[in-house]
Amino acid sequence: MKAASINTFGAPEVFAIGEHRLRAPGPTEVTVRVAAAGVNPLDLKIIAGYMQQVFPIEFPYVPGTDFSGVVESAGAQVTNVKPGDRVIGRTAPSAGGAFAQTLVISADDVCLIPADMSAEQAAALPTAFGTASQALFDVGQLTRGQRVLIHAAAGGVGSMAVQLAHQAGAYIVATASHQNIDLVTSLGADQVIDYRTQDFTHTRNIDLVLDTVGGDTLTRSWSVLRAGGRIATLVEFGIKPTNGHSGQFVFFASATPFLSHAIRLFQAGHLQISIDSIFPLDEAQSALEKVATGHARGKVLIRVSS
Ligand SMILES: NC(=O)c1ccc[n+]([C@@H]2O[C@H](COP(=O)([O-])OP(=O)(O)OC[C@H]3O[C@@H](n4cnc5c(N)ncnc54)[C@H](OP(=O)(O)O)[C@@H]3O)[C@@H](O)[C@H]2O)c1
Repeated sequence: MKAASINTFGAPEVFAIGEHRLRAPGPTEVTVRVAAAGVNPLDLKIIAGYMQQVFPIEFPYVPGTDFSGVVESAGAQVTNVKPGDRVIGRTAPSAGGAFAQTLVISADDVCLIPADMSAEQAAALPTAFGTASQALFDVGQLTRGQRVLIHAAAGGVGSMAVQLAHQAGAYIVATASHQNIDLVTSLGADQVIDYRTQDFTHTRNIDLVLDTVGGDTLTRSWSVLRAGGRIATLVEFGIKPTNGHSGQFVFFASATPFLSHAIRLFQAGHLQISIDSIFPLDEAQSALEKVATGHARGKVLIRVSS
């Protein structure tokens, strides 16, 4: 089968498109013909070799975790899906495998998708939706009426977080650049700050900051918190409590617990999926380069088959 793979660490140009051998599925696994794959900043970090301590990989490695597709075959003990079913899922980062025509995954890690959800919409969801949900509610303990500051609200995770926080009844302050203010407002933000021209630290009495940027943005975010406020960060592993406020790193391990919720919200018309761009598998490198700009509007996707 055709796949995008790497044999060395580096920037996106270390990609090669070619034939790749798929491992044989076990009795509890399914083989999925990939329709679309979502591209995440994590893919870039793995390819660069930055994640070896956390998600070690072996070469040749086929990148990509988020996918949608059609079940091609199911192991003897699989009961939740059957060949022909359209599914969504996320592979373990060390396994990767989504930037390929076919992948093998545990049947427990796939979820059926409805007929009215496109392959691209589905592939946009696993990491972005799951991380937003885990960060806001499991780590951030966000509740109705609280004030949340969501950074990079036009990005993959941010655009999901704004919608989830809105549905939870929070007051949302979001950061985005000027051209994305309308989008972020339409997702449910009460106030959008153009982070390039305005200083978000004028905001006050925030209960929770969702930090998707790190560095200076994280450092400056402490000042907006009210007493008892907290920061959930996606990027600063070593975050320390500051000025009496708590901070916690979000470690997104599995999308599986979040997939059916995402699909229910979509079917109820409560989830807008923003797609920045779609590339064919042969142009996987360009898809990664788009994510590497740090300015995708929603998700960058790879269409593998129609
Ligand atoms: N810890 C975990 O388990 C975990 C899980 C998922 C993601 N992450 C990490 O979280 C980060 C965000 O992921 P993502 O998928 O949402 O990324 P993304 O989609 O690539 O984010 C792109 C967005 O970031 C915005 N942005 C860039 N610089 C900004 C700044 N200084 N202030 C505000 N917005 C800014 C851009 O907005 P404009 O174009 O408007 O400038 C763009 O919309 C990545 O580093 C990723 O690796 C970690």
